Amino acid sequence: MKILIILRKLGLGLLLVMIVNSVSSGEVPMPEIPKAKNNFSAEKACIEPVDVMRRQHGLLLKHYRYDTMRRGVRTSEYSLIACINCHVTADESGNYPTVHHSSKHFCSSCHTYAAVNIDCFQCHTSQPQEYFSTDMGPVPSE
Ligand code: HEC
Ligand code: HEC
Ligand code: HEC
Repeated sequence: MKILIILRKLGLGLLLVMIVNSVSSGEVPMPEIPKAKNNFSAEKACIEPVDVMRRQHGLLLKHYRYDTMRRGVRTSEYSLIACINCHVTADESGNYPTVHHSSKHFCSSCHTYAAVNIDCFQCHTSQPQEYFSTDMGPVPSE
């Protein structure tokens, strides 16, 4: 009897090991998030700790938008323009991706993966300011 129980336990353990292995051997694709151009400051990579940013950036942005639009408060820390300027990097040929046309864009790298839809870039540009100042064409993203 006892040997049967031990065998069953071993079987379960083996099954678990197999499941864990198949997950960790890369069968679940992870998003490739482009690196930012620089750190926010000597102490901080981003404007808030990175794990906070990962979880809360949506809330932060919407909160900040409310402050600007409804209360007239402007701080450069949570400016959407600043996020884009620092996070959106050019490809090998020097072109900046847009959220609409590339999953290599910082914001869409994750949102495409997580199936998040935001309408922000119907109005806001998803390309950095330097792109417009150094090179007047092509016409900004739609
Ligand atoms: C001056 C540069 C700078 C600015 C401005 C900035 N960030 Fe970051 N952010 C970073 C760096 C550096 C990291 C760490 C990861 C990396 O090196 O790309 C990071 C990490 C993140 C992450 C986590 C990414 C990951 O790899 O999991 C998110 C999300 C994020 N930032 C969103 C924002 C948003 C939204 C804004 C604007 C409100 C913003 N950031 C402004 C530099 C910046
Ligand atoms: C590390 C992955 C990641 C990156 C990079 C990222 N996002 Fe997100 N974003 C998410 C996830 C996941 C959600 C949904 C969960 C949540 O609301 O926190 C989300 C939600 C949001 C929301 C809230 C949507 C809603 O309707 O509540 C906004 C706004 C947003 N992201 C803006 C941005 C912008 C702008 C950028 C680029 C500057 C960006 N995100 C980059 C993963 C990411
Ligand atoms: C219908 C057009 C429209 C849409 C959609 C929109 N915005 Fe805005 N947003 C504006 C305008 C106009 C301003 C004011 C610009 C200014 O005065 O600098 C603004 C200002 C802001 C600001 C403060 C100024 C800045 O650059 O940081 C933030 C943050 C912001 N929006 C975030 C968002 C986010 C996040 C979304 C998506 C969830 C979004 N917006 C969707 C039009 C829009």
